[in-house]
Amino acid sequence: MKPILIVHGGAGDIPQSRVQGKLDGVRLAVKEGYKVLLHNGSALAAVEAAVVSMEKDEYFNAGYGSVLNLAGEVEMEASIMSGQNLDVGAVTLIKDFLHPISIAHKVLTDSPHSLLGGQGAKQFALEKGFQTVPPESLISENAKAALNEFLKRGEFGRTEIGIAEGGVGTVGAVAIDTNGHIAVATSTGGMSGKAVGRIGDTPQIGSGTYADDNIGGVSTTGHGESILKYCLAHSIIKLMENGTDATTATKNAVTGMTSRLKNTAGAITLSKNGDIGIYFSSNRMAWAYIKDDKLYYGIEQNEVHEDGYVKT
Ligand code: GLY
Repeated sequence: MKPILIVHGGAGDIPQSRVQGKLDGVRLAVKEGYKVLLHNGSALAAVEAAVVSMEKDEYFNAGYGSVLNLAGEVEMEASIMSGQNLDVGAVTLIKDFLHPISIAHKVLTDSPHSLLGGQGAKQFALEKGFQTVPPESLISENAKAALNEFLKRGEFGRTEIGIAEGGVGTVGAVAIDTNGHIAVATSTGGMSGKAVGRIGDTPQIGSGTYADDNIGGVSTTGHGESILKYCLAHSIIKLMENGTDATTATKNAVTGMTSRLKNTAGAITLSKNGDIGIYFSSNRMAWAYIKDDKLYYGIEQNEVHEDGYVKT
């Protein structure tokens, strides 16, 4: 089958000043991942490449540019799942590596466990040859501004993204490769002003990430505590398993979560047949996908732009 890749760059009250950078970043990321698929790379390799691209980009809340906890530190988390055999890899409380998604992928391939955190995740990464970076090098000026804004406001909003200039967003990717295998990857710095040691939805399989070749794949973004209570990614998968199409399943699960728990989220979905679902209950969510070699992207409600054919 023809490969398809879809990415998101975070849902929330994204300030206008961050819109263009996010749109540029999701278009770059989707092309990076799609390149892998066009060279017969696996869906797993493609979603990792797309997420790596956004982890390097300070317009996103993942890797460099991750938001800060109450101690002013970056604590990142990521997960990746293969729909072929339901293999998963996830990491949390990562402080000194640029690409948590690559460590999560290594957990999937090389560890008997599914989720490693903190010191144990660091030890695993070092054993596998990942290079540390100074934790301060992951902190952007926008992340500092977002923490200051949070401290002034003194409470969390309904989204993961604050209204400050530092508003950024979790990243994710869903792909289907030429063999029909589906993979999903999601990576985040969490929420500005989170408690030290707080773990959100992103590394929790079924909340931030889910993939099953027999049904489809989903990556979510938004208010972590709500997403994990609702098992948002798996809720969408369950609706599709019961016959709901990708668009309706994504919309119904996201709106269902928001009406039950009040906070907002977004999700990107791909069915095993290549149907796409994109929905967010927040004001904005950056997304992009390539299907039939054509790139589409957007960030506002009910907005779709077309970039034309992707040169291969
Ligand atoms: N959705 C990212 C977080 O709340 O951790």
